[in-house]
Amino acid sequence: MPETSYDLVVIGAGPGGYVAAIRAAQLGLRTALVEKDASLGGTCLNVGCIPSKALLHSTELYHELATHGAEHGIKSGKLTVDVAALMKRKTEVVSKLTGGVKQLMKLRGVTVIQGLGKLGAGARTVEVAKTDGTTQILETKNILIATGSVPVELPFLKFDDKLVVSSDHAIAFEEVPAKFVVIGAGAIGLELGSVWARLGSEVTVVELLPRIAPTFDEDISRLAQRVFQKQGMKFELGAKVTGLNKDKTALTAQREGQTLEFPADKILVAVGRKPTTAGLGATEAGLKLDQAGRVIVDKNFRSNLSNVFAIGDVIAGPMLAHKAEEEGVAIAELLAGKAGHVNYNTIPSVVYTEPEIASVGLGETDAKAKGIAVKVGKFNMAANGRALSAAAVDGFVKIIADPKTDRLLGAQIIAHNASEMIASITPHLEYGGSAEDVARTVTAHPTLAEAVKEAALAADGRAIHSA
Ligand code: NAI
Repeated sequence: MPETSYDLVVIGAGPGGYVAAIRAAQLGLRTALVEKDASLGGTCLNVGCIPSKALLHSTELYHELATHGAEHGIKSGKLTVDVAALMKRKTEVVSKLTGGVKQLMKLRGVTVIQGLGKLGAGARTVEVAKTDGTTQILETKNILIATGSVPVELPFLKFDDKLVVSSDHAIAFEEVPAKFVVIGAGAIGLELGSVWARLGSEVTVVELLPRIAPTFDEDISRLAQRVFQKQGMKFELGAKVTGLNKDKTALTAQREGQTLEFPADKILVAVGRKPTTAGLGATEAGLKLDQAGRVIVDKNFRSNLSNVFAIGDVIAGPMLAHKAEEEGVAIAELLAGKAGHVNYNTIPSVVYTEPEIASVGLGETDAKAKGIAVKVGKFNMAANGRALSAAAVDGFVKIIADPKTDRLLGAQIIAHNASEMIASITPHLEYGGSAEDVARTVTAHPTLAEAVKEAALAADGRAIHSA
C-alpha cells in the first residue's frame, strides 16, 4: 500500500529538479523530491558548474599573480600552490551550496527522500529504492523526471578513474599531472584544461573538428585558440582519437593518415554528456525515449505517459543548468494551471576560461550556414578603458542584427567577464529589441559593458571609440 500521496514527485535534485520542487511548493502543490545521492544539487552543484568555477577562480588568481604580479608592483618571492588546500576550498563552496538547497527544501515544505526513484505501476507511483535496502512507494498525481546526464564514454577508451577520467575526477586530482591530455575542445575540455595548465600541467587538447569551441563563431574560436596557446595550452585539431599506445602511456589519434601519440599522466574524456534514464524503469512503464536516449516530450514537457513529465539534460536541448532551471519553473507553473513558458532563443551559453566566451541567440557563423542575412557590429576590448586598466584587452564583442529591421538576433563575446556582459544583452533579445536599443542604453563608465554598447553602435557604422 502507498504510504503517502503527493501532487508532484520530482526524480532528481539537480538545478532542474530542485527548482521545479521549490516552485511547485510555492504554488501550493504537495511535493516530494527523490534523489539517489546524499547531497542535493545534482551534477552542477556537486561535480560540475560550481566546483569547476571554484577551481577556475583559485587557479586564475595564482596564474595572474605568478605571471603578471611584478607588472603591478606585487612581489612575494616564488609562489607555490597547495593542491589539497585548493581542493578543500572547492569542497567547502560545494557543501555550502548543497546545504543551502537542503535548507530551502525544508523551508518550502518539500519532502526530500534519498534513494533511486523508479516509475511504478501505471506511472501513478514512484518506487524509491533506499540505501538500507527497503523500498518506499510514493503515490502521486504527477511525476517529473529530472535525472540529468552523465559523461559520454568512448567505447575504445573506457573510464578507469586513474589514467582515463571524466570531469567528475578531473575536478579532484590530488596532484598536478605532469602531462594532461584532454579529448574535446568544448566547455569542459577548455575549462578543466585551463585549470591544470595554470597549475603547471603540460596540457594538450585533442579535438575532432578543425576548431576549438566549435559552437561559437569562427572568429571567436580563432582568437580563443591564440590566447589559450599563449597561456601554454597546445591544440591538436582535426584529430580522431583511436585509443592508448601499447604500454598505456600515451593517447593515440589519427590525422590525415598519420598516427599521432600524446604522452599522458591523465586523460580527460570531454566529448559530451548523455541523458540518465538507467534505473528509471522506462521500458517497463512504456516511457518513450528518442535514439539518443532522451525522454520525448511535447512543448509542455509531457511525455507519452499523460502524468509523466521531463525537463533538463534528460530531454532535448542544450545541456545547461539555467535551461533546466527555467524548465523547472515552467513545468511547476503549468501543473499549477498557470502559463509556464521557456524562450529557447534567449538561453545564454558561457565557457568560463580567461577570457570567457559567451553567446546568446543567433551567431554570425550559424546565420551564414543557414543563409540568413545579418549585419554585425564588432568592438575590440583593446579600445575599452576598463579592459586596459584591468589588463584584459584580449577579446571583442559582436552584436548580430537583422539588416532590414535592425532587430537584435544575437551576440557573441570573448572577453574578461563575458558571462556577466552577455546578461546585459539577453533582456533586449527577450523583449524583441533592436541593436539601436542596445546602443541607446546608458552604460556606466568605465565598464567592460561599454564594449557592448559600442558593438551595437558599430552595427550601424557609428562606434565612438573605434574607426
Ligand atoms: P561539448 O559538446 O561542449 O564539447 C565536446 C567536444 O568534443 C566538441 O568540440 C566535439 O567536437 C569534440 N569531440 C567529440 N567527439 C570527439 C572525439 N572522439 N575526439 C575528439 N574530440 C571529440 O561537451 P563537453 O565539453 O563534454 O560538455 C558536456 C555538456 O556539458 C555540454 O552540453 C556543455 O554545454 C555542458 N557544459 C557546460 C558548461 C558551461 O556552460 N560552462 C561547462 C561544462 C559543461
